Amino acid sequence: MKILNFGSMNLDYVYQVEHFVQPGETLAALEQKAGPGGKGLNQSIAMARAGAEIWHAGCVGIGGERLEQLLKENQVHTEYLRRTDEIQGNAVIQVNPSGENCILLYGGSNRAIIPKQITETIENFEAGDYLVLQNEISCLEKIVEEAAKKGLRIVLNPSPFEENLHNLDYHKLSWLLVNEIEASQLTGKSEPDKVWSCLHAEYPKLNVVMTMGSQGAWCFTLRERIFQPAIQVKAVDTTAAGDTFTGYFLRGVTIGENLRECMKQAAVAAALSVARTGASDSIPYWDEVEKHLK
Ligand code: RIB
Repeated sequence: MKILNFGSMNLDYVYQVEHFVQPGETLAALEQKAGPGGKGLNQSIAMARAGAEIWHAGCVGIGGERLEQLLKENQVHTEYLRRTDEIQGNAVIQVNPSGENCILLYGGSNRAIIPKQITETIENFEAGDYLVLQNEISCLEKIVEEAAKKGLRIVLNPSPFEENLHNLDYHKLSWLLVNEIEASQLTGKSEPDKVWSCLHAEYPKLNVVMTMGSQGAWCFTLRERIFQPAIQVKAVDTTAAGDTFTGYFLRGVTIGENLRECMKQAAVAAALSVARTGASDSIPYWDEVEKHLK
């Protein structure tokens, strides 16, 4: 069983601010840092640091070489990355004193994925392998189509939520990982039970995880419904906490670990990431997570 993550890679420009900048306001930042990010790259690194063997596919643009290097340093396979002349995808992130963020995204190289690259990548995987997706790259529908034809198990984190996600065939997915905002954008519901009932009625084979930040997270499958409380920490920067949760949760799922255990590992990893600044820089390694599980 192999895991392919077809996903974004961003250069994150992170600004610590007293409050999020308002319309018409010019605001001096308290601190600035540049670092690696992108929901795709963060999730690949989280899965790798959790101990999974993972292939990351996507596009490297101008200025993105160090993102490729970082994937390699984390033992992520990079042979399905394609070079493009587009500027590397990037994000301007404001972080307020409560650790909350707001993100301005520029797709750049992440929008340069082309059908030929999809076909050539997916032909290296087979039925039963996992495909992990977020919504920061081009051609998402085509990737889902091709992967489903081959019998890959498809996991979608529909983030950021945009109109294109209404065109996807969710019958082709095995897992959907949403936060409370994405859940309501998708179903019009906000209570976890109602989100699950709505999705389950329409897509009976879909398994769902709904994360709710400091309110914890739910996992719903045909056989189980599991609530995992959030581990309370002082939030320094919540950027990539969701990606860390996703990566750690999926590492457990792909090796057939008990789902309650997967949820716990994911919650511990996400809590550790929230207590640090940065996106992929904040993702913990397995030995650190393990210590907090005892
Ligand atoms: O989930 C956090 C990520 O969202 C950041 O790293 C940023 O690049 C955006 O993709």
